[in-house]
Amino acid sequence: MMFTVDGRDVPLAAGQTVAAAMWAAGIRSWRRTRVAGAPRGLFCGIGACFDCLVTIDGVANQRACLVPAHPGMAVTTAGPPDPPSPPGPGGTAVTTAGPPGPPSPPGPPSPPGPSVSGQTRCDVAVVGAGPAGLAAAAASAAAGLRVVVLDAASRPGGQFWRHQTGTRGAPAFEKLWSTVDGRVDYRPDSPVWFVEPGFRLHTPTGVVVADRLVVATGGYDRVLPFPGWELPGVVTAGGAQALLKGSGVPVGERVVVAGAGPFLLPVAAGLTTAGARVVGVFEAGRPAGYLRHGFTAGRKVPEALAFAATLARHRVPYRTGHAVVAARGEGRVSTVEVVRLATGGTRTVECDALAVGWGFTPQLELPLALGCATHLDVDGSLVLTVDAAGQTSVPGIYAAGEVTGVGGAALAITEGRLVGAALAGTAPPRRLLARRRALRSFAAVMHTVHAPPDDWPQWTDDDTLVCRCEEVPYGRIVHAVEELGATDAGTVKSFVRPGMGWCQGRVCGWPTAALAARLCGREVTAADVTALARRPIALPVTLGQLGGDISVE
Ligand SMILES: Cc1cc2nc3c(=O)[nH]c(=O)nc-3n(C[C@H](O)[C@H](O)[C@H](O)COP(=O)(O)OP(=O)(O)OC[C@H]3O[C@@H](n4cnc5c(N)ncnc54)[C@H](O)[C@@H]3O)c2cc1C
Ligand code: FES
Repeated sequence: MMFTVDGRDVPLAAGQTVAAAMWAAGIRSWRRTRVAGAPRGLFCGIGACFDCLVTIDGVANQRACLVPAHPGMAVTTAGPPDPPSPPGPGGTAVTTAGPPGPPSPPGPPSPPGPSVSGQTRCDVAVVGAGPAGLAAAAASAAAGLRVVVLDAASRPGGQFWRHQTGTRGAPAFEKLWSTVDGRVDYRPDSPVWFVEPGFRLHTPTGVVVADRLVVATGGYDRVLPFPGWELPGVVTAGGAQALLKGSGVPVGERVVVAGAGPFLLPVAAGLTTAGARVVGVFEAGRPAGYLRHGFTAGRKVPEALAFAATLARHRVPYRTGHAVVAARGEGRVSTVEVVRLATGGTRTVECDALAVGWGFTPQLELPLALGCATHLDVDGSLVLTVDAAGQTSVPGIYAAGEVTGVGGAALAITEGRLVGAALAGTAPPRRLLARRRALRSFAAVMHTVHAPPDDWPQWTDDDTLVCRCEEVPYGRIVHAVEELGATDAGTVKSFVRPGMGWCQGRVCGWPTAALAARLCGREVTAADVTALARRPIALPVTLGQLGGDISVE
């Protein structure tokens, strides 16, 4: 099976996204940035960053990481793409983004369809079909409620249960899905781009009006800026995982995995098992810290040991207290600089890909638009404030999973079940409350053990990009504070534009807030992070869909 990229044949395998098929063909960049004309390709792998835009069958600004590749598709790129290696014979055509030009509005994940096809009323609308959303939907449906589940993705399961088309998901997913499938109105490819009180949820395929709303929108990778992080071949840890789990494509042949958190283990183990050579896992935290906090047992330990055994079997070096502080290469990453945090000693490691992540950032556009209260969690993320049943500060809005604090799939499922119980009008089951408490305590320790080093801003120099989309370097953030007098992240944003690009601050928001606060000589606040997290239009939508939706009112 083939498609074309700028007229050249590229092979594809069933279920691969356009980005994955291009990546598998050796293409690492396919777009040029507006200011510097720098090459860009895949970065976040889940549609958060907009680095991978291409034109597909004449529809511009498609996120290649979201669109399934089909035989005969024509992709056009926006800058000379890498030569595919090896070149493959005929099929789906993809075009890239050519010479740099002015940006145009982001397109939807798939070609525009009808503006609005109708309005559906229900008792409960669940946004997000990941572990949290599916658990909440299952419990609500079991109680006889009319439930609509809306998800931006084309398959259920969210990030944790991502699986390839045509394959069965993990047993836990299949079990939960069997209690949802056919009992709820599940709508894939239905990004909720706007929400009104009441609750009216706008998607490209119609409006859903619900008495009660469950926010289970998960999150995306948190990445900290460092010199060279914009080089093709540097991707988020979640991006590498999505590429592998969703499309079966390892991110490189010689891969460095770095950042902090237990998530680095499954990423490295998955790559190793898939045949990639992981030349090092560089974990900034000190996992021995779990022992100091008394976590010597529990389900997490066997899981971590299994990953560790895989890494040991493949002789993958696992170094704690180390961080990647620079990436270098001509047009794509070829080496990274690794620092030993305790001594400052550095060394260079050769690689053709770097997967880096510092935890996750909860996705809060919808609840922020509805006025739900938030606070900063232990890891510094902005999260929703909820009670034991998952009720937010706004009556009728519930939340579960990463949006209430990053803590993993088991916690997301537990919270989803608690929300389901609340919606069904039953008292929160004690067993679930106890499990939630235990998993939240674990998450708090995890965030402490895997916190980014305090001096991470020192890895940046004046030329290091902080905002990848608007190409705002660190020196401009300094200028905004020291010369223009900004005293908070929101003002920094208005003065020098970090957070005003394609991704609307999804990637640069948290680091910009942290850097601005630090330059102002104070701790980062929830207001700093909120300033770069508010996005009234939650997900990209075409002007045609926007106009169609407004007329529905
Ligand atoms: C890229 C990535 C890969 C990951 N891989 C793993 C892994 O392999 N192993 C692991 O232990 N943990 C992984 N994690 C962490 C994992 O996401 C969580 O532990 C778990 O999936 C959280 O469940 P959740 O239901 O809260 O959110 P998610 O699983 O993230 O589900 C959220 C869902 O909401 C949908 N959504 C978001 N916004 C909207 C909107 N506006 N409209 C409609 N739908 C929307 C998304 O499409 C998604 O399906 C990963 C995280 C990321 C970001
Ligand atoms: S990185 Fe996208 S707006 Fe800054």
